[in-house]
Amino acid sequence: MTVRVPAEGGDDLSIRGAERADLLAVVRIENASFSQPWPYDAFEKFLGEPGFLVAECGGEVAGYVVADITQTIGRRLGHVKDVAVHPERRGDGVGSTLLTRVLAVLTAHGADSVKLEVRRSNETAKRLYRRFDFEALRVVPGYYADGEDAIVMIRGN
Ligand SMILES: CC(C)(COP(=O)(O)OP(=O)(O)OC[C@H]1O[C@@H](n2cnc3c(N)ncnc32)[C@H](O)[C@@H]1OP(=O)(O)O)[C@@H](O)C(=O)NCCC(=O)NCCS
Repeated sequence: MTVRVPAEGGDDLSIRGAERADLLAVVRIENASFSQPWPYDAFEKFLGEPGFLVAECGGEVAGYVVADITQTIGRRLGHVKDVAVHPERRGDGVGSTLLTRVLAVLTAHGADSVKLEVRRSNETAKRLYRRFDFEALRVVPGYYADGEDAIVMIRGN
């Protein structure tokens, strides 16, 4: 399903399932966004998964989110694994729109709660997640390869 919402710039923003043809643009945004980016084949594995969504604006991929659900005993835990917006498209609601949509997808697939990891220093992302009712659960010291701590954040459904 594609959801269209008006974007600030006038072009419609579409949120839809990621397709193979999106992967190069996704990897380009990933490389521009992270010091330890996911490689192409990491995204390829999520093709067809309901939690791999792209935001398209004016025919271009403006951002994406990758999430899945793991089943543990009596519990379905959603996990937002990756989210990024093209550097020139940030601050315009694309990240919020992606997050809104993916949380709805995870809920529709029975997630009881949703977790994610965020770098301790990533204030923009932490603010965004707090606005979506994520709360810091614990710190994982040295989680990232450069030694930075991760904050695990969780949101109940
Ligand atoms: C984190 C990230 C995905 C957020 O995406 P985004 O599209 O910029 O997010 P939004 O625009 O929805 O919200 C971000 C900020 O813009 C503001 N904003 C949203 N819509 C806006 C608009 N129309 N005009 C001006 N500002 C706006 C929000 O209030 C928010 O501000 P705040 O951080 O001061 O609270 C993006 O910054 C990014 O790709 N960062 C690099 C990768 C990354 O860190 N990913 C998260 C890993 S855990």
